[in-house]
Amino acid sequence: MKILFVCLGNICRSPIAEGVMKKICKTNGSKWLIDSAGTQNYHIGEAPHIHSQAVCKEKGIDISQQIARQIQDEDLIKFDMIYALATDVYEILQNKFKDNKNNNKIKLFLQEQHPESYESVTDPWYGNKDGYYPVYDIIAECCNIIWEKYK
Ligand code: 4NP
Repeated sequence: MKILFVCLGNICRSPIAEGVMKKICKTNGSKWLIDSAGTQNYHIGEAPHIHSQAVCKEKGIDISQQIARQIQDEDLIKFDMIYALATDVYEILQNKFKDNKNNNKIKLFLQEQHPESYESVTDPWYGNKDGYYPVYDIIAECCNIIWEKYK
């Protein structure tokens, strides 16, 4: 399985998803390919947000080496699943890749947990560190569901 997690900046939410999913794979001896990207170009080349790094570190996950990048056409060939962490991200991706024959790979992340829902992982960018804990928990719960479903 090859999974790409996508948010807006690739510095707050999708780096957490990448870190959590890689940890699950490592714990289970799995060879899944896991990566993350952003729809926007604001933070290309940056490390994850300090609060995302700190919350992951408290859970035993080091995401400090990740580098933000923007999603590319090639990602729709390379990956099996492209998970949008939020509905705005999902809509940006659907629009950006509306003529791409692989756009059926684009999924809304939280629909793996609640298939009938249309929900976002809250954007913690404008808040303080406290906001990153529930974001981590929601991401971790859904990553575990994805693992159990596709392992
Ligand atoms: P992310 O959060 O999409 O989870 O990485 C954001 C990061 C930066 C911005 C918005 C959301 N921004 O507007 O710069």
